Amino acid sequence: MKIDHIGYAVRNIDKAKKSFETLGYVFEETIEDRDRNIYIAFGEMDGYRIELVAPISEESPVDTHLSKIGPTPYHICYKSDNIEADIESLTANRYKVLIPLVPAIAFGNKRVVFMYSLAVGLIEIVEEYEMKSV
Ligand code: NI
Repeated sequence: MKIDHIGYAVRNIDKAKKSFETLGYVFEETIEDRDRNIYIAFGEMDGYRIELVAPISEESPVDTHLSKIGPTPYHICYKSDNIEADIESLTANRYKVLIPLVPAIAFGNKRVVFMYSLAVGLIEIVEEYEMKSV
C-alpha cells in the first residue's frame, strides 16, 4: 500500500487552511460530510497530501483528539488496490476494524476503513480513487 495522506484534526477548517497555506500547502474546496459530522479539506505540497478534518458540531470522530491534545495529526491513510485482501491480512496481524468499510464522500464514494493496532494506533485505508488536481 502507498501513503495517500496524513489526517489532521483541527478545530476550525478555515483558520487551519489559512495557517497551512502559510506553510505552502494548496487546498481543494472544503467538503461537508454530514454522515460523519465533519468538514474535510485536502491540501498538497511537494506531493505530500494532508487532510484537515474539523467537527461540524459536537460528537464528531475528531472531538476526542481535539479536546485531549488540540490540533494534531491523528492518522495516516494508505491507498489499496485490493482493500478486502488488505483488511483480511491486517486482521490476521493484530489490527482490528474500528470503523467498518463504507463509502466516503471525500473520495468520490470509494470505500474507506479505519483500523487500529495496539502497536501502531489508528490507520485509514482507502480504495484506489481518482485524485482531483489542485
Ligand atoms: Ni483520512
